[in-house]
Amino acid sequence: MVNKSRTYQLGNRAVRRMGYGAMQLAGPGVFGPPKDRSAALAVLREAVESGVNHIDTSDFYGPHVTNELIREALHPYPSDLVIVTKISARRGKDGAWIPALSREELTQAVHDNLRNLKLDVLEVVNLRSMLNVHHPAEGSLEAPLTVLADLQRQGLVRHIGLSNVTPTQVEAGRRLCEIVCVQNFYNVAHRDDDKLIDTLGAQGIAYVPFFPLGGFTPLQSSTLSNVAARLGVTPMQVALAWLIHRAPNLLLIPGTASVAHLRENLVADQLTLSPDILSELDGIATERH
Ligand SMILES: NC(=O)c1ccc[n+]([C@@H]2O[C@H](COP(=O)([O-])OP(=O)(O)OC[C@H]3O[C@@H](n4cnc5c(N)ncnc54)[C@H](OP(=O)(O)O)[C@@H]3O)[C@@H](O)[C@H]2O)c1
Repeated sequence: MVNKSRTYQLGNRAVRRMGYGAMQLAGPGVFGPPKDRSAALAVLREAVESGVNHIDTSDFYGPHVTNELIREALHPYPSDLVIVTKISARRGKDGAWIPALSREELTQAVHDNLRNLKLDVLEVVNLRSMLNVHHPAEGSLEAPLTVLADLQRQGLVRHIGLSNVTPTQVEAGRRLCEIVCVQNFYNVAHRDDDKLIDTLGAQGIAYVPFFPLGGFTPLQSSTLSNVAARLGVTPMQVALAWLIHRAPNLLLIPGTASVAHLRENLVADQLTLSPDILSELDGIATERH
């Protein structure tokens, strides 16, 4: 069971800090159907039964696959469940990630998410920058963000977030519309956004680290393993607990296609790490990986 007393504001909903990211439920390369559909549905149902009320997804996972699984497993949705999606890409026939940022493509993406999730309004939509597919790159997001703000005014989108962005883009975005969250690559070993996290915290904006466990190649660190052994928990639980301790505005969305891993991950927010352990873990970012 996740810790229900640990919450942070996401738009106008308080969500529990331990959430779930659905990307790993699609097939290999986040393309096509899951290898075990009933296991994927079981993961989603168990996440919500365990108290998760924040699920991250996108219609370009599969494409359509994770949204269809979420709908099948969980619709009609519990009233407190916040499903966050993202737009800005489409998938090629070979699984390629292709930028899709025209007004027509963004509008289509919002409607695809609404249909496949069976929702009338999307609670939070992240505009994911595709200026560089792999990491944040400077450049204007004004045109696509203006489209998303128009879709918000039409009542199709309740709140807007940004993903794969720089601090400059967050500031520019906030001048165009309210930004309720930023979703970037961050974990105990990859800490480019340390300063941004603190800035957003002071502004009451949630920061949602993607790849909290390292992504497709989960984190490997002797420090993580040593701390985990001393505490009698797993390295992945320590990595998640470190994020919970890092700042109150961090919302976690670890991904897994395994019920066993899900159970392991969801209890990580019950762990208390001492100041000595936290400073030991702070050293991981400067280790060689
Ligand atoms: N905005 C963006 O650009 C962006 C990019 C990437 C991801 N995301 C979002 O962020 C979420 C989280 O990222 P992610 O799922 O890619 O990466 P992640 O949470 O860092 O790690 C997932 C990987 O760790 C493994 N894993 C999970 N729990 C484990 C455990 N307890 N022990 C050992 N291995 C474990 C998973 O494999 P198993 O399935 O075998 O457990 C999977 O290979 C995604 O689901 C997605 O919603 C957003």
